[in-house]
Amino acid sequence: MSVIFSIFAKKEGNSRAIGRIFSRNRGNSSHFYPSYLSCKGLLISHRKTTQLKINLTIIIALSLFASHGVQAVENIATLDNANNEALAYNCAGCHGSNGISAGPSIPTIAGLSPTYLVKIMEDFKSDKVPSTIMGRISKGYTSKEIEQLGDYYYQQVFVSADQSVNSKKAKLGEELHKQYCERCHSEAGGIQEDDAGLLKGQWKPYLKDQLQDFLNKDRKAPKKMARRLKKLYKKYGYEGIQALLEFYSSP
Ligand code: HEC
Ligand code: HEC
Repeated sequence: MSVIFSIFAKKEGNSRAIGRIFSRNRGNSSHFYPSYLSCKGLLISHRKTTQLKINLTIIIALSLFASHGVQAVENIATLDNANNEALAYNCAGCHGSNGISAGPSIPTIAGLSPTYLVKIMEDFKSDKVPSTIMGRISKGYTSKEIEQLGDYYYQQVFVSADQSVNSKKAKLGEELHKQYCERCHSEAGGIQEDDAGLLKGQWKPYLKDQLQDFLNKDRKAPKKMARRLKKLYKKYGYEGIQALLEFYSSP
């Protein structure tokens, strides 16, 4: 390719500088980068050579960029995955490797939608969502890093917590869920795309803390959720909340 270009360059009587660029690359096409080509493209247009030749330069430049470009994108993707995984090491101590938490007050975060994870981390950062630990931790990460963590955990597979469930209470919980909560937490709150956390199979004590915080208004729920939760609590009391918890913590 560089040979073709050096001939092309000489034929056109372009500057000696261009000749040097091309002769330097002669016989070693692996050093032939698109930046040289775009530089050449500019010089050619500056010298007002014909449109046809400019077009030819652009076409060849684009085809070279396409092959280098694909490789570069693949390399960046591999690098990104490694970087994201390295960032997540700092979370593994509490949230378990791959985001599957072993402690009942610490939520499993594997499989959370990136939208939800980013939002909740930013809300921890600004103390909008109350926390015992995450407020402090989230402040150590830039928005870009939080996005990377979102991508990483989205790729991890959620595994239901290993915990006992009262199936009789869970039955009432299922009915209440359908009536009050299903609209935004579809399939027992197990759908990533709802961007509303993952409830199904989550640790019961963690969920209990959250519902308590929502009811106390320590954690701000979306308007409609707050209204429905209040209504449910008014009608069914603590028993209703317990029933929901049994339902959500079922695998
Ligand atoms: C020292 C223990 C600890 C470490 C380390 C930790 N977390 Fe947490 N995380 C918690 C606890 C506890 C909660 C519950 C909120 C609270 O009380 O802070 C939580 C909650 C979360 C939630 C909310 C989950 C939901 O369903 O709403 C996300 C997301 C999260 N952590 C992400 C991370 C990420 C990402 C890291 C690493 C950068 C991390 N955590 C490091 C303990 C930890
Ligand atoms: C209008 C939609 C909507 C309705 C209805 C709704 N929720 Fe939510 N829920 C959300 C959203 C959005 C979030 C995420 C809040 C945030 O970003 O802090 C959420 C978060 C939660 C969380 C915290 C999840 C976590 O991982 O920390 C729990 C628990 C929860 N909802 C329970 C319920 C229950 C119980 C009901 C029914 C009484 C209900 N929701 C009804 C939209 C809704």
